[in-house]
Amino acid sequence: MMEKDIQEVLFTKEVIHDKVKELGKKITEEYNNKEVVVIGVLKGANIFLGDLVREINLPVAIDFMAVSSYGFSTESSGVVRILKDLDLEIEDKHVLIIEDIIDTGLTLKYLTENLKSRKVASLKICTLLDKPLRRKCDLEIDYIGFEIPDEFIVGYGIDYAEKYRNLPFIATLKREVYE
Ligand code: PRP
Ligand code: MN
Ligand code: MG
Repeated sequence: MMEKDIQEVLFTKEVIHDKVKELGKKITEEYNNKEVVVIGVLKGANIFLGDLVREINLPVAIDFMAVSSYGFSTESSGVVRILKDLDLEIEDKHVLIIEDIIDTGLTLKYLTENLKSRKVASLKICTLLDKPLRRKCDLEIDYIGFEIPDEFIVGYGIDYAEKYRNLPFIATLKREVYE
């Protein structure tokens, strides 16, 4: 029923799972027994975070932030508002931000500046997908699952107008769906 809107599957469930395992292993090794506060950016990162933390073998605390940038539009407005802040104190903590996709980078530019000002011990970024062609600001990303071209995609947490987040794969949408 959602399948009719799909143009092409870019990453299958299995391919995503392998990449998530690889990222989890890398994070586990590089943090070397340190405690880490994993922060998911709602709502898109929720599914990736859920899978990723189960591949990280470290003491992990989980928290979420909700920010508004896109809303129901397909274009980032660049104006970021905090809708839900952290529950945890992160001063002196090793913080790892989890994103599903980085596009213009404006959401994370704002978030990293904001979180750094809370005097964290370290701050890193992990994203499943990166669209470097769309970047509108400088952003250092520590862990990237896949680089993708500038195409409109959905699934595995990523929505179009709040739909398709529950697709187990990542795919492009047919143009007629969003035009
Ligand atoms: C999407 C995506 C990232 C952000 C990336 O979230 O999940 O959080 O946009 O865009 P940027 O790099 O251009 O800032 P969205 O604002 O659509 O909210 P959602 O996660 O609830 O879908
Ligand atoms: Mn998001
Ligand atoms: Mg969205």
